[in-house]
Amino acid sequence: MESPEPRIGAHVRSALNSVPHSPLIDPLRRAFEAHSGALADIENSFRNFTSHAQTAERARYFFHSWSLTNHSAMCVSGIGNRITLRLLDERNGIDKPRLTSALLALHRISDEDLGALGGTLHADLFYEMAGLFCDGDAWLSRGFAVDSARAFKEYKNRSGLRHPDLMYALLSTTVHEVYTHGEVEFILPLFKDCVAQHFDIDEKQARRRLAWISIHCGPTEPEHFRHAVEAVEHYCAAMHVDPLAYDLEALFGEYIENKAAVMRDLSRLLPTLN
Ligand SMILES: [Fe+2]
Ligand SMILES: [Fe+2]
Repeated sequence: MESPEPRIGAHVRSALNSVPHSPLIDPLRRAFEAHSGALADIENSFRNFTSHAQTAERARYFFHSWSLTNHSAMCVSGIGNRITLRLLDERNGIDKPRLTSALLALHRISDEDLGALGGTLHADLFYEMAGLFCDGDAWLSRGFAVDSARAFKEYKNRSGLRHPDLMYALLSTTVHEVYTHGEVEFILPLFKDCVAQHFDIDEKQARRRLAWISIHCGPTEPEHFRHAVEAVEHYCAAMHVDPLAYDLEALFGEYIENKAAVMRDLSRLLPTLN
């Protein structure tokens, strides 16, 4: 019997369908299909975590390590800085108006995260959520990072900030944004049920504590994804780069596998589902 389709994959697919004309879409679709086993493991990890009352210690590992995979605003800002350095570059042949358009699109990805639209900083919302599960903020200690989570952060910084070719930065941002859409949509009901079952707080407090997840649901991440795709498009035009010259499916798959490695490790720390 065929296994049921991972729900993260279904959410990702609907976001992909909303940007039909980019050459990135088919490779993204193929990568998420090829790595559906990794997505299923990620889903199981979140199911395991939310289906039990966790000890504060386990929750600290979970929230610290998970947070290393999902706070991307710093990385996006660093990529933006790198683009401004290219704008200052006097070499011929760069289409600077298009490069500026790439920068403008890229910055729209981190507006909400960094409070540029007047809302609460997303790091503060995450802090509220983690505090409920972890009994205070000891979870912030780097000692709660599992090795694969450190490796994930290293991989993101390497592709986003240190790889000399900025395309790797833009492509990893693109897959991150569309993946995140799938993740938040998938986990919101799980976390809502978990809080209702295991915590003695009213609905208003529960909404506040889970605001980090809910504000990323709906159009937020598909919009970020659209901006990432636009940034790639402008960047390729500005720098005369062919996106299909990259092994796109492999690059996107690498992101999914690195993420799954973290969530599998976190699963191992949790009691398993019956
Ligand atoms: Fe955010
Ligand atoms: Fe995002």
